[in-house]
Amino acid sequence: PQACGVVPEAWRFDCYPERGVVVTRELCEARNCCFIPASSSPPAPGRNGVPWCFYPPGFPSYSLVSVNATDLGQTGTLVKMVKTYYPKDILTLQLELLYETDNRLRITDPSESRFEVPIAVPKATEKASNPAYSVELSNEPFGIIVKRTSTGAVLLNTTVAPLFYCDQFLQLSSSLSSQYIYGLGEHRSSFLHDIHWNTLTMWARDVAPTELTNLYGVHPFYLAMDEGGTGTAHGFFLLNSNAMDVVLQPGPAITWRTIGGILDFYVFLGPDPASVIGQYLEVVGYPAMPVYWALGYHLCRWGYGSSNATWDVVKNMRNYGIPQDVQWNDIDYMDRSLDFTFDPTAFSTLPDMVKDLHSHGQRYVMMLDPGISSVQPEGGYWPYDEGLRRGVFINHTDGSTLIGKVWPGLTAFPDFSDDVTHEWWYDNLKRFHDKVPFDGLWIDMNEPSSFVDGSTVGCPDTELENPPYTPGILGGLLRAKTLCASAVQKTSSHYNMHSLYGLLEAKASARALKRMLGKRAFVISRSTFPSQGQYSGHWLGDNRSHWKDMYTSIAGMLTFNLLGVPLVGADICGFSEQTEEELCVRWTQLGAFYPFTRNHNSIDQKPQDPPAFSPRARSAMKQSLLLRSSLFPLLYTLFHRAHTHGHTVARPLLFEFPKDVRTYGIDRQFLWGKSLMVTPVLDPGVDYVVGYFPQGLWYDYYTGDSIRSKGEELRLKAPLDHINLHLREGAVIPTQVNRQIGQPLHLVSSLSEDGSAGGELFWDDGESIDTLETDQYAHVVFTVVKVRSDHYRPGSSDHYRPVRSDHYRPVRSDHYRPVRSDHYRPVLRSDQYAPTTTDRYAP
Ligand code: GLC
Repeated sequence: PQACGVVPEAWRFDCYPERGVVVTRELCEARNCCFIPASSSPPAPGRNGVPWCFYPPGFPSYSLVSVNATDLGQTGTLVKMVKTYYPKDILTLQLELLYETDNRLRITDPSESRFEVPIAVPKATEKASNPAYSVELSNEPFGIIVKRTSTGAVLLNTTVAPLFYCDQFLQLSSSLSSQYIYGLGEHRSSFLHDIHWNTLTMWARDVAPTELTNLYGVHPFYLAMDEGGTGTAHGFFLLNSNAMDVVLQPGPAITWRTIGGILDFYVFLGPDPASVIGQYLEVVGYPAMPVYWALGYHLCRWGYGSSNATWDVVKNMRNYGIPQDVQWNDIDYMDRSLDFTFDPTAFSTLPDMVKDLHSHGQRYVMMLDPGISSVQPEGGYWPYDEGLRRGVFINHTDGSTLIGKVWPGLTAFPDFSDDVTHEWWYDNLKRFHDKVPFDGLWIDMNEPSSFVDGSTVGCPDTELENPPYTPGILGGLLRAKTLCASAVQKTSSHYNMHSLYGLLEAKASARALKRMLGKRAFVISRSTFPSQGQYSGHWLGDNRSHWKDMYTSIAGMLTFNLLGVPLVGADICGFSEQTEEELCVRWTQLGAFYPFTRNHNSIDQKPQDPPAFSPRARSAMKQSLLLRSSLFPLLYTLFHRAHTHGHTVARPLLFEFPKDVRTYGIDRQFLWGKSLMVTPVLDPGVDYVVGYFPQGLWYDYYTGDSIRSKGEELRLKAPLDHINLHLREGAVIPTQVNRQIGQPLHLVSSLSEDGSAGGELFWDDGESIDTLETDQYAHVVFTVVKVRSDHYRPGSSDHYRPVRSDHYRPVRSDHYRPVRSDHYRPVLRSDQYAPTTTDRYAP
C-alpha cells in the first residue's frame, strides 16, 4: 500500500506478532500490511523493536452502523465486511457504553454467547449525571475516543489501529496519554514501565521472576499519568482472563491482544493517582482487613527437615529477643509431600510445636499445594478418594481425571470454580486442623503448576490447545508447565479459567478459614488475579539472593499495592542461592517495611534466619524488626484505609507528589501511607544512600532533625544498622512500645511550618470479622494546631483539638484498651518539637 511511508515508526502497529517466524515481505503483504525494515538497530534480546510489518492506514476494520441512547449510556452495532487472516471473525458486534459513575466509564460487549470472567462487578442503575469524561465515536473506521472533560486530554483513542474480534484473536489498540504507565502485573520490571516496544504477556506461570516473561499473576490494569505533566491520572482495566499480550510502544500507544473472552473494559478518571486506584478497587473489590498478627515477622524456609529443627529456630529467636509472630513450614512438613498429612517421624512433634507457639502468642502457617496425589492405595488417602467421589477434579474432555505431576508425584487438580470443591477443601482443612491447629495458609503452585506439560497423556489436538495465535508465553504453548487448555472445569474450559486458578483457590481457602476459625482469614497466594486482595495477600515468588532482586522487590510491592493486594512482600534475604550477611541485613531492613514481612529460603541453602548471623548483623536485624513492631498501629490503620477506601499501604512517592515529575520513576524509595518515607540501602559496601526528597519539610524519624527540601536528592548516612526513615511535615502517627495488642500507644508528630499536624488510628481486637460493620472498633483522629499562649483559652475548641470526640467511638470488647493518656502527648507545645526517640522500643 502506498501510504506505508507516512506512518512514523513509533506508531507502527505490529501486523505480524507471531513468534518464531521470520517475517518476509511476502508473508507480510499476504496480510495486506506494509513491510518496511526498520531504520534502528536490532532490538535487545527479548524485545520486539519497531515492527517491520505493520497495518497501513485504512486497513479494514469495523464500521459503526447504528447508535442508540440507553438509560445508562449508548449501544451501537459494529459491522465488518472483510474477513481478517485469523479464523472465525465475528463480523457483527454489539457495543455498549455504560456511564456508570462520574469517574467510571465501562465499555463492553453485551452479547451473552461468549465466556466472561466470573468475578462480581458493580451494576450501575443510573447514568452518571456529571461525568468527568466525554466519549466520541468514530464511525468509519470505528473507534472510541475518551477525553477528560476538564482539560480535553485524550485518555483513549482506539482509531490508531484496526480492531480485531475473531473467536480466538481479539485486538484493541489505543494511543496512551503519556509515557508514564504503571501496573500491568505480574512482571519483573521497574515500577514505571518502559514503553519502548515492550511486550508484557499475561498467563499465570510458575517461573522464578525474570524480566520479559509472564509470571505467577495476571492483572490487565494500568494507571497512567495524563499528558502534559499536570499531575492528573487515569486508569484502564480490561476484564479478561485469556492469555494475552500487552504491547507498549513509543507512540505512546498500547495494544491489547487476547485470545478469548470479550472486550470488556473500564476507564477511571481519577483525577489523582490515588483516586484512580480507589475507583479500580470499587470494581474488583477492596482488600480484606488483615488479622493483626499478619503484620508481624514471619519466618520460613524450605528444608527445616523436622519439627524439632523448626522449633529450635523459634526458641533461638525467643532467646535473642527478636520479634517473631509467625512460624511457617514448607512442603517438608508433609508425609511424602501429600497435602493434609504430616511426616509421622520427622514432624512427629508438630502438634506440640504449634501448641507451644500458641502459648507464646505466636502463630503457625503451613503450605498447601493444589495437586492431590492420585496414586495412593485405595482407601488410604481421603483427600483423593473423597475428591473422586464428589467429582471435584479437573477432567479431560472425555471425562477422565486429568493427571499431572507435582511434588508428591502424579496428581489430580481440584476445580475451585465449583462450590462442591470448596466444601471438600473445607472438610480437608477441618480434618487436618483437628490434628495440627494451624492459623493460616500458604497456597503455592497455583498457576496451577505441573512438572509435565498438559497431562501425563498429553492433550488433544484442538483449537483450544493450538490457537491460531499464541501470546508470548514462556514455553510457547498454553500448556507449558501447566494443564491442558482444553481441560474441563465447572465454569468453563481451562483455556478461559487458567489464570483464575489462584484467585479461586484463595477464595475457597479464605472462606474455609473464616468458617473454621470464626476469625479473619490469613492466606498468602502465589498466583493472583484482579479481586485477589479480598481473599489473600501475595509474596513475589522465587527470587534470588541478589542485590538486584532486593531492588526489584520494591517495584513488585508497589505494583501489587496498585492492584489491590497490599499485603505483599518478597522473600527477605532471597529464596534461591546463598545469601550473604550484608545483603541479608539490608534486606531485613527493607523487608521491615514490606506490608508482609517474611524471610524464606530454599532447600539446601544455609540458614538465613537472624540468629544465623554475627552479633552485629543479628542486632541490626533485631533493631529493624522492633522498629516495624513499633509501627504496627500505623500499619494497621493504613490497612484499614485500604480495606475501606481502596488506598495503598506501601505507596509510590508519585501518589503524594503527582505534580513533581521527578517522582514518576522512583522505585528505590517509597512511603507508608502519606507521610513515612523509607530510603533503604540497595547496594553492597556502602554506608550512605542517596534519596529524593520532594519539596517540603521532612524530619529524620530517629533524631527529629529537619530537612527543608526544594525537591532535591540528598546523600544520607546509612551505616549497616540503620535504615533511613523520614516523616513528612504535618503527620501524627500512632506507634507502640510493645507489639502485642493492649499495650500503651504513643504518638509521634511532625509539625508543619505553621505548627499543625494530623493523623488517625484505627483500632479493634485485631481478629474478629467485620468489626467495622458491627461497631467493634475505635477510630481516633488526631489534630495538632499551634497554640499561641497569649491567645490560648482553655476549652476553646477552635485552638486546641487533641482528640475530636465525634470521631471517636470506644470499642466494647474486652480486648481493647483505649489509648492511655499518661503515655500520650497529643499536642506539642514547643516550636522546636521533633519526634522523640526515647521509649520507642521495648528494651
Ligand atoms: C515453590 C515456592 C517456594 C517453595 C517451593 C517448595 O518454588 O514458590 O516458595 O519453597 O515451591 O515448596
